[in-house]
Amino acid sequence: MRTLIAGGTVVNATGAQVADVLVEDERVVALAAPGSGPAAAFAEGAERVDAAGRLVVPGAVDVHTHMEMPFGGTRSADTFETGTRAAAWGGTTTVVDFAIQRKGEALRQGLDAWHAKAEGNCSIDYGFHMIVSDVNDQSCKEMDVLVGEGVSSFKLFMAYPGVFYSTDGDILRAMQQARASGATVMMHAENGIAIDVLVSQALSRGETDPRFHGLTRPDLLEAEATRRAIALAKVAGAPVYIVHLSTTGALQAVAEARSEGQNAFAETCPQYLFLSAADLAREGFEGAKYVCSPPLRAPEHQAHLWRGLRTDDLSVVSTDHCPFCFKEQKELGLGDFSKIPNGIPGVEHRVDLTYQGVVAGELGLPRWVEVNATTPARMFGLYPKKGVLAPGSDADIVIYNPAASQTISAATHHMDVDYSAYEGKAITGRVETVFSRGRVVIDGGRYVGQKGHGRFLPRKTNDYLK
Ligand code: URP
Ligand code: ZN
Ligand code: ZN
Repeated sequence: MRTLIAGGTVVNATGAQVADVLVEDERVVALAAPGSGPAAAFAEGAERVDAAGRLVVPGAVDVHTHMEMPFGGTRSADTFETGTRAAAWGGTTTVVDFAIQRKGEALRQGLDAWHAKAEGNCSIDYGFHMIVSDVNDQSCKEMDVLVGEGVSSFKLFMAYPGVFYSTDGDILRAMQQARASGATVMMHAENGIAIDVLVSQALSRGETDPRFHGLTRPDLLEAEATRRAIALAKVAGAPVYIVHLSTTGALQAVAEARSEGQNAFAETCPQYLFLSAADLAREGFEGAKYVCSPPLRAPEHQAHLWRGLRTDDLSVVSTDHCPFCFKEQKELGLGDFSKIPNGIPGVEHRVDLTYQGVVAGELGLPRWVEVNATTPARMFGLYPKKGVLAPGSDADIVIYNPAASQTISAATHHMDVDYSAYEGKAITGRVETVFSRGRVVIDGGRYVGQKGHGRFLPRKTNDYLK
């Protein structure tokens, strides 16, 4: 099966050029000057897709999703079927989700459970990180085994005492093991012990509204935990990747470590670039829609996060997609903000939202591709199969109309959740066509993919280790 994607502006992290993309079966075989000899020869017998006036970019790689995640007394609303379909609608062709080891369980148990949820249900390719919530001799041994199976990154939590929380000692041990196994530690960096004190003090004062979720998780406690995580990683000699970074202080900690040559990396998410504490303080219980951790911050942080994306102190934009319906799920926290399940839906809108950064002059086109696709692929061992349009790479391709306009709404999105955090937001740009390994999944406003097409991706280790 051959497809010629003709005449679009092909954008990779290295630059943009008008080119034809030649696809055979599941792979890109060449980029050629439009109408050149090789392109013309290839065109015979090939399906031709006209991409003139469009951007042709590598399928985006979202390295932070939570499908069907048991959390806060419920489970995140998207299954692997609905979540990966929504991802495809938004131009994401790979997700890396978090399998969970519960306390008292083996890593293997958690990983097997996540394989069972995903297998046969995904429209796009997928991989797993592993959440380690019980660090002991056995789980350290298993970390090494899992790296051999292509699960080469492990998330630990300085937040959520009693659930996922690890002590500094546990974290150090896991980091030492990560160093020995060649793995990357991903860190949820918030001081959960101090936060729990602030939460119970707030509740005892009768402060129960959603906005107190933000007020009891001050940005200083993210900055402090980020510095501590980086220090622990330095002692262990392990790479550390700070997930869902939301504040200027935490960014500063990452930037300092990077300038000293430490293998310290960080991501941010669209909610921290576009939403703020004012959303958390919306009228009535509306703010519950915006409860996530770390919480949405004062708008002053946003300019610093955009700067971090330009300087590469923030290397990746992921979504932390963790959707809970407003009805019945977010409502679990009526009268007690600490019972609102934490998380925001977003897997469908990362490419479009970050494109607004291109429109506003915050990011250039190649950097847009780099933070959404190339760097996440390299950071998590998927490159050059994913994250680039080059001979031999998977034909995960998005044809993007940079001039289209759309309005985000729960009425039109494809995530299985009853609200949008970006309801009514007007957007420039739109995903038109999406290929996953050479197969069309989204065709100009129609889903034509198939659940079960998506395959598990065993991942190599981090490409950026110095
Ligand atoms: O609020 C969030 N971020 N929910 C998902 C779990 C996590 O900590 O990433
Ligand atoms: Zn987290
Ligand atoms: Zn998360």
